[in-house]
Amino acid sequence: MVSVTIDGQTLEVEAGSTVLMAAERLGIAIPTFCYWKRLPPLASCRMCLVEIEGLRRLQPSCATTVTDGMAVRTNTPLIDETRSSMLDMLLANHPLDCPICDKGGECELQDMVMAYGPRKSEFHDPKRVFHSEDIRLSPVVIMNVNRCIQCQRCVRMCEEVVGAVALGTVEKGMDTAVTGFEGSLASCDQCGNCIEVCPVGALMSFPYRYKARPWDLVETDTVCPHCGTGCQLTVGTRKGEFMRVRSKWDEGVNRETLCVRGRFGLDFVSGRDRIERPMIRRNGALAPVSWDEAADYLRRRLSAVEDKAAGGLASPRLPNEVLYQFQKLMRRVFRTNNIDCSSRWSAPFDTLGPLLAAFYSRAPLEEVIANDCVLVVGGNVTEENPVTEYLLRDGARRRQTALLMLSARPSRLEADARVVVRVPPGGETASLAAVVAGLLAAAGHALPGETFADIEATIGGPPVNSDSDGPGRLASALKESRSVTVLVSVELLRSPEARATLQQLNNLLQVLRLLGKRLAMQFLFDRANQLGAWDMGVLPGLWAVTDDATRATLARNWGADTPSEPGAGLDAMLELCVGGGMGALYLAGADPLIAYPDRDFVTRALGAADLLIVQDTFLTDTAGLAEVVLPAAGYGEESGTFTNNEGRTQKIRKFREPAFEARGNLAIFDFVAALRSQTLQPSTEGGIFDEIARRVPAYQGLTQDGLGADGAFTKAVPLPPAGEFFAPPPAAKAAGGLMLITGNCLFHNGYLSERSEILNTVADDPYVEMSAQDAAQLGFSDRDPVVVRSALGELTAKLKVNKRFPKGLVFLPENYRALRLNGLMRRGVYPCPVEVHRATASACLTGSTSNPKDRHQGTDGGLPDPASRLDQ
Ligand code: SF4
Ligand code: SF4
Ligand code: SF4
Ligand code: FES
Repeated sequence: MVSVTIDGQTLEVEAGSTVLMAAERLGIAIPTFCYWKRLPPLASCRMCLVEIEGLRRLQPSCATTVTDGMAVRTNTPLIDETRSSMLDMLLANHPLDCPICDKGGECELQDMVMAYGPRKSEFHDPKRVFHSEDIRLSPVVIMNVNRCIQCQRCVRMCEEVVGAVALGTVEKGMDTAVTGFEGSLASCDQCGNCIEVCPVGALMSFPYRYKARPWDLVETDTVCPHCGTGCQLTVGTRKGEFMRVRSKWDEGVNRETLCVRGRFGLDFVSGRDRIERPMIRRNGALAPVSWDEAADYLRRRLSAVEDKAAGGLASPRLPNEVLYQFQKLMRRVFRTNNIDCSSRWSAPFDTLGPLLAAFYSRAPLEEVIANDCVLVVGGNVTEENPVTEYLLRDGARRRQTALLMLSARPSRLEADARVVVRVPPGGETASLAAVVAGLLAAAGHALPGETFADIEATIGGPPVNSDSDGPGRLASALKESRSVTVLVSVELLRSPEARATLQQLNNLLQVLRLLGKRLAMQFLFDRANQLGAWDMGVLPGLWAVTDDATRATLARNWGADTPSEPGAGLDAMLELCVGGGMGALYLAGADPLIAYPDRDFVTRALGAADLLIVQDTFLTDTAGLAEVVLPAAGYGEESGTFTNNEGRTQKIRKFREPAFEARGNLAIFDFVAALRSQTLQPSTEGGIFDEIARRVPAYQGLTQDGLGADGAFTKAVPLPPAGEFFAPPPAAKAAGGLMLITGNCLFHNGYLSERSEILNTVADDPYVEMSAQDAAQLGFSDRDPVVVRSALGELTAKLKVNKRFPKGLVFLPENYRALRLNGLMRRGVYPCPVEVHRATASACLTGSTSNPKDRHQGTDGGLPDPASRLDQ
């Protein structure tokens, strides 16, 4: 520690702190322009100059390190005069067009001139003009170069935090101009972080341009609904209409950054295909009815199917309170434990539950990625959790964290990784097994002999499929690290081998723990409240419903018995439907028809349920098949909490009223329960939160008031480690031909992003990604229209050749409305074997999906009309 005195106040700060940091701790404001907390100092603007005793010249406080005994002044006449002339110089060239500048009213230059600037300018020369008109750099970024004050925050933010390197500068000195490559942003993520950090109106949001003045906006702090990173953001509305999103520099996991989905993808709230009124199916078509008519109809239909099985599927984008109440509704009123929360896969909860209980770290991401090494397994973090990627990059570049990456799909972050291991799709399981074997071989002697022998007896002989040296390099990096973080992409759950993958992950974590590593593990969820959904028990089997004591506790809390039969996941529920055994299937915010593998099968299954109830905000494909559709409040129309990947529970706030006749999700559950002459108490958001804080172990002790600006962390429940080791997976057969995988792309990650007009504009056409090697072999060039054909269907899209892609792999993003790729996928088979052929250009203008059967043999999966089953 070193001691420093600033404006007469003395304090001790850590060695290496800057004068600016020390002043901040004392609450002394020093004006800055080029300084930005998470960027290395540039020290170019000279706004932060201070006097340091013993030094003749003023020094930039942002780049001057405190030395012991240093005495600093921040407010002398010389400093005032220097700041004033610096501002005068900036104003000499800055256009005085504040009345029409989007930044007017929240401009740092305006504020700074008011606080420190001259009242009269010394400069009378004509102003420098780079361009007479604003330049549209991208669909979302527009630039007025004349207003630029050359702080370079944007360039540094783009390169060092986002990793995109889309901006640069030309010329020097006062003629320095920020620009993209040849006047546009070629490799731009469209994240708008450059706009966020621009202190003036040089970089601006095109979608927000000239829409509102800051003082007209009502601003609401809430949480992004798009992925599990859980970024905080501030929504601006005017007269209830959505206007823009901004981030705050000092709050949330994300601090000032957002990705394109968070900053520009919230306009879906004004999406056009809202469900306006309740609907029931009459004569094969959905007909709007009043809530009272819907009640009469649904009451009769629920009675008609009450003797059959029921099932419920809820979206992991719903708030905790809604999810908790949903599972309560299903268990208490529908008397079933058939509950799930993913439309894309059925999680192997028997393995998942113990893994989460033993290893999930509910701690700030910033803390867990400060470990010596971070292993990222599966997926593509750049496109699934972009802001998590920014933080991982920062860890690798500024804190020298060893980044290790093991995945089938390449990502941009690999450029900052120390070890990259590419595996065939699904090959993560075998590689994890090989890493465990390698670790034991290298460090097993450090374990007690008996423990080592026990583990070896289970995991068996030499590593499987370990012909590459990748697992060995991972094992040796893990061995050298004292603290290890494992981040797991939820994409791994798509594979039929998901159970084996989780088992090998469990083996690895146990070995690391036995070797004395300080350990952290978190999932990288691509849905905003996936961890919350699991915590709330929206998954069969995570709560021990077969256990008498658990049910007795539930009965005491809920005032009613709950069923003791173990529940079914989505796949088993769909099977039940097809077999004619499903009475009421209740879907809340879930759209399995666009997501679950084998669209024909899902269509048949949903059509075969006696009573399909869909509660949703938008008229989804699945809602189009329902017998009863209930319009629900959407994101921003009700409040509650989300729990992000870190286990941080944060408030989501309402910023507009429910549209049309939509009701809050909780009110709809009350409505449905009342039709079965039951009540769900408590039924308010606050009451349910309190019950969650009593009932759900990880949430115990949380209070709504305690969820401050940064939320509050749920707590890992101290359970003994699972202790069990699992045998390695059988050696996988080498797959020939092309294999199709899917997942999120940067611009789309679900049916919310599909409804954002801005994201649809920036996302361009749907595409098929393939290696340069495969493309050359097949005679394709970038942007050629191609047909991807599986045994079940085919689709056409433009080819995107990716030099970093492994041979044999084809990637199709999951969420493009024009491509429903679950029509190609077969249940239980992932990755999906495909062929790729050249298409005619006209077939590919927007992308399209079709089923060969429809074209050649006629469709055989017709949807039965649920109305024909009605007892009218
Ligand atoms: S929008 Fe994002 S990626 Fe594009 S230039 Fe700005 S910071 Fe860089
Ligand atoms: S565009 Fe904005 S952020 Fe970039 S250098 Fe100019 S003033 Fe600074
Ligand atoms: S990283 Fe995820 S939570 Fe953050 S802004 Fe992007 S989509 Fe939203
Ligand atoms: S903020 Fe210190 S020199 Fe710019």
